[in-house]
Amino acid sequence: MLERLHTLDRATLTALAQRLGRERGLFERVFNVLQEGLLVVDAEGAIAYANSAAQRLLGFKSGDVGGTTLWRLAPGLRPLLGPALDAATSLTREVELSYPEPRAVRLYLVPFSAGLGAEAEWAGATEARRFAVVLTDITRDKLDADQRIESERVASIVLLAAGVAHELGNPLNSLTIHLQVVERKLRKLRGVDAKDAQALGDSLRICQEEVARLDGIIANFLQAIRPRPLDLADTRLAEVLAEVLAFQERELADRGVRVEVESPGGLPVVLADKDQVKQVFFNLIKNAAEAMPPGGRLRIEASADEEHVALAFADNGGGIKPEDLARLFEPYHTTKPGGNGLGMMVVQRIMRAHGGQIAVESEPGRGTTVTLQFPLKQRRVKLLAGG
Ligand SMILES: Nc1ncnc2c1ncn2[C@@H]1O[C@H](COP(=O)(O)OP(=O)(O)O)[C@@H](O)[C@H]1O
Ligand SMILES: [Mg+2]
Repeated sequence: MLERLHTLDRATLTALAQRLGRERGLFERVFNVLQEGLLVVDAEGAIAYANSAAQRLLGFKSGDVGGTTLWRLAPGLRPLLGPALDAATSLTREVELSYPEPRAVRLYLVPFSAGLGAEAEWAGATEARRFAVVLTDITRDKLDADQRIESERVASIVLLAAGVAHELGNPLNSLTIHLQVVERKLRKLRGVDAKDAQALGDSLRICQEEVARLDGIIANFLQAIRPRPLDLADTRLAEVLAEVLAFQERELADRGVRVEVESPGGLPVVLADKDQVKQVFFNLIKNAAEAMPPGGRLRIEASADEEHVALAFADNGGGIKPEDLARLFEPYHTTKPGGNGLGMMVVQRIMRAHGGQIAVESEPGRGTTVTLQFPLKQRRVKLLAGG
């Protein structure tokens, strides 16, 4: 067609131009409904075209791509692709965009005119060096993968620790038995040397108490970390919360902590393991109480939307420093003298098992809000069915 261009009359040319215009319009509409971003760039990285998804992803205002280069959008790309793109380059990379919002994007770049054959030759060498860039937003996939790796890492540590803790049970049993033997012998000695027997008796009691304490620590630990299968049932979270608060009433009163619960009536039920959810609430309330001076206030607010029931635990305690916030869910991370650093890890494990989410906001000196999100029953059933 192109080589015959000079032989065509004016009417044919007009018709041809109109047809091309219509086709171009059609392609543009197709490009603009794509989920993927689509760019056309030249060998210098200058952007000639961006579809709607690309404009959204890259923050172009009203389709204005004039003068922008690929390098400006993703500075990390320049050393990889630039300064001038090789005409045969085709590649895929994951890049982090910081503007207009932080996103992880998979970028797939292919030479554009390759395969156009005669037409590319006709258009000349510069035309041949154009590239189509497909941008796929993978922020979500990446987050999911990070979460999976993190939970697998924690799971393996937990399994190892559980094994060690379990093994400690045998020597502790043996110690308990032998201490009982010593105790009996000591009773007979009392008549012989009352003073020595008294001193030995005191030491013995300390040993027995310490062994009991170790036993308790291990039992607690095993109970806390052993991933138990969920025993799911229809659950009213507001009722579970009330039970936990009743159980902790004494400790909260001793610490002078005031608790306010705001829970609208008729919250939807969720599918949950009541005992495990109790553990979650217990850990969060305990942490909040420990973070507040006497006179502190813990506000617990429940709410629901079409997909979730949410519970926000807001305290006005000391807050969490940013560097500690990053380690909040790590096993054994604690800032308390007597802490074990397992509470938040257990909270996270149980929430994940429920298909829920946990968000933490904190400002040092002002307080911390931990928000739990439980998927609604219908939604969870769908998730389980793989739909
Ligand atoms: N509501 C809160 N306010 C302030 N700090 C908190 C709060 N919840 C958790 N933390 C911090 O997170 C750490 C880990 O908590 P956790 O896993 O429950 O272990 P522990 O309570 O035994 O220290 C705590 O030591 C504390 O520094
Ligand atoms: Mg705790």
